[in-house]
Amino acid sequence: MSHASLGGFIAAARAAGDVKDVHGADLDTDVGALSETSAQRDGPLLLFDGFAGFPAGFRVASNVYRHSRRRYALALGISPDVHPVELVRRLRELRARQVPAKPEEVADGPVLAHRLAGEDVDIRKFPAPKWHSGDGGNYIGTGDLVIMRDPETGWINFGTYRACVKDRDRLSLWIIKHKRGRIIGEKYWAKGQACPVAVVLGCAPLTLMASTSRLKYEQAGALHGAPVQVVKAPLSGLPVPAESEILVEGEIPSPDEETAQEGPFGEWPGYYSHSGPECVVRIKEIFHRDDPIVFGHQPLRPMLSFGSDLPDSAARAWDHLERAGITDVTGVWGHCHGLMLVIALRQRYAGHARQALITANGIAAAGSMFGYFVAVDEDVDPSDLKDVLWAMCTRTNPATSVNLLHDAWTSDLDPRLTPEQKHSGDFTMGRVLIDACKPFHWRDSFPEPNVFSPVEKQALEKRWASLVAEISAWSRP
Ligand SMILES: Cc1cc2nc3c(=O)[nH]c(=O)nc-3n(C[C@H](O)[C@H](O)[C@H](O)COP(=O)(O)O)c2cc1C
Repeated sequence: MSHASLGGFIAAARAAGDVKDVHGADLDTDVGALSETSAQRDGPLLLFDGFAGFPAGFRVASNVYRHSRRRYALALGISPDVHPVELVRRLRELRARQVPAKPEEVADGPVLAHRLAGEDVDIRKFPAPKWHSGDGGNYIGTGDLVIMRDPETGWINFGTYRACVKDRDRLSLWIIKHKRGRIIGEKYWAKGQACPVAVVLGCAPLTLMASTSRLKYEQAGALHGAPVQVVKAPLSGLPVPAESEILVEGEIPSPDEETAQEGPFGEWPGYYSHSGPECVVRIKEIFHRDDPIVFGHQPLRPMLSFGSDLPDSAARAWDHLERAGITDVTGVWGHCHGLMLVIALRQRYAGHARQALITANGIAAAGSMFGYFVAVDEDVDPSDLKDVLWAMCTRTNPATSVNLLHDAWTSDLDPRLTPEQKHSGDFTMGRVLIDACKPFHWRDSFPEPNVFSPVEKQALEKRWASLVAEISAWSRP
């Protein structure tokens, strides 16, 4: 069952024992650090309320689903305790069945319950955390939808772009140059117009998931299994999820006319990124539902976070490999927020693993930071980093098992881009393909691993059930 609103999803997560309420946290010092602490331990969704100076019920939710495999699965209607590779398999099945669905317009929705206009317009009435101590402001938009209409085609686009509170009626936005949101803005600016915009601060997780897709509302409908219900934003007429928490209506003027200092902001590769003059939203009106919840998505260092893009990339890679004729793939997973993609396969012919690696490299979309592709044999669990490292350190010959690629497109957030590269717009980086499979020609005489088989492990767990349970619970953070 899909959840139409953020509140509906939080209720489901609560029923699964996955929510912790937090009262009285400080927006500048506590929310970010507590959220990181919870994500690091694969802990609960945190629902913050009772901020000093804010009405009770004006809440921030963090660690909603993007940092937690359990809640990512829950959002998709998959059992939360599923094994990572099985999660990717289930995701592929879901994707194969999904049908894009246009949004359905409805006359009214909870998001229009309250209206702030004229002198009452003040975005500072809503809680906005400082997610890391070095952030250049309070970021209210980290899990937002920034909705625009292409003036030439009428296409409705939305993306998630970080939004920082600048003044009572100003947000800054960081929209990277090649994003469709930026291109749409430029079309208005070229005509001397400001770009109408609707910024949604809180929506259903599956709708947010579609913000990184090509199809947007149609993809959100596919994920929900039903059209997303939208209301017309009262000023711009832009379609907005009826069940949104907060709707900011306004316009983005050309950066030649107005900018604001944006950043730095602690980003998902684990570093503060980008600081400079960027776009602003001139806020005209604000709407919100009763007791609104700001959708907080704090970027975390990759190894602290499960990273919900990861199963999606793994599913895409697996589909891509099969479409390209790579047989016998037994699992795909990504580590370090998916920056290292691991493919497990049963080798059938000489060059099988290299072919898989070369092919998998092709899924790295424009502007993604994929750097490491690793192939392992089917006895290695691609989702278990210890297993993968074991294969990399014992089944490779470093002199011959590695191929290097040069000049692949990387992300603006790649910390390895030199200052000169950034200056000249050269956003390229190398990639590594690592064949960590047993050498094909003598794989049958490769030393046998001293690993207990699943059958042996099951028999042991039967004989020593309580001791095995006691040892398993003996985990140190
Ligand atoms: C949590 C999250 C935060 C993001 N923050 C930004 C951002 O600040 N700026 C940006 O340009 N893209 C950001 N993105 C990526 C865009 O949302 C993504 O590329 C999306 O497809 C929008 O691209 P489009 O404008 O081309 O449709 C973010 C994505 C996610 C999931």
